[in-house]
Amino acid sequence: MRTRATTEDLVRAASAPYWKTDFTGYFKARGKLRGDPAFTKILSEGLLAGARRILDLGCGQGLLAAWLEAARSRHDERPHLWPREWPAAPRPVSYRGIELRRQEVWRAQIALGSRAQFEVGDISQADFGSVDAVVILDVIHYLEHRAQLHVLDRARAAMSSGGILLLRVSDADGGIRFKYGKYVDLTVMAMQYRRAPRVYCRSVPEWQRLLASLGFQVEATPMSAGTPFANTMLVAHAHPTVRQPHSLMDSLITHD
Ligand SMILES: C[S@@+](CC[C@H](N)C(=O)[O-])C[C@H]1O[C@@H](n2cnc3c(N)ncnc32)[C@H](O)[C@@H]1O
Repeated sequence: MRTRATTEDLVRAASAPYWKTDFTGYFKARGKLRGDPAFTKILSEGLLAGARRILDLGCGQGLLAAWLEAARSRHDERPHLWPREWPAAPRPVSYRGIELRRQEVWRAQIALGSRAQFEVGDISQADFGSVDAVVILDVIHYLEHRAQLHVLDRARAAMSSGGILLLRVSDADGGIRFKYGKYVDLTVMAMQYRRAPRVYCRSVPEWQRLLASLGFQVEATPMSAGTPFANTMLVAHAHPTVRQPHSLMDSLITHD
């Protein structure tokens, strides 16, 4: 009961700053934060607990940053309402988002002000700096297979061992749910970009092999409860193992 009330409260608190943007920004925030189980799971499982520097690749309008900020403030101001089974809210000292679409970056900047840093950029080229956590939610499939590999390789290089990567993907082995998710995704992107982008998906075992080859220890958690999609969250811990040579990693690239 407390969990549900807290989640509802967080949806309200994290969406509120988007009133300052536009109608779409506000209602997109409410809809996505309420309907997507990933946001609550990140808190209930403590997936970003302890991450001081967070890099959000393809951050859209900065919803995760707004969510974490709402969580930290609720945790500190109303600790008696925080669900007992949840770890303490994350308290990053820096949050940086990189996003291709200027309008999304504008919304993120208006909603979060100087409390997080957002920039227009292409994640296949941007410098990642040094971070403790990299988050890539529903983005990687827009990059062609070789570019995916290089982004993930650079994400691994940006963190020391102990860092965490949260990579949410749609499972290409997910049957009708995968096909439905792809249809919705392409329709939404076609409306925003005026053309449907090509997408490059993989099965969950294929993602796991690829991440393992880059020096991550990976767990896969289904992440589409309450939705019709085939989403999976890959929680990948940077591991101090020897990374595999590129020639081997290249064999993991699926060619069309
Ligand atoms: C489905 S949205 C997800 C947004 C955000 N991660 C979230 O969960 O709210 C995918 C986002 O990735 C962005 N994107 C796609 N390719 C990108 C690239 N190469 N560099 C930066 N952003 C990219 C899109 O513009 C879009 O905003």
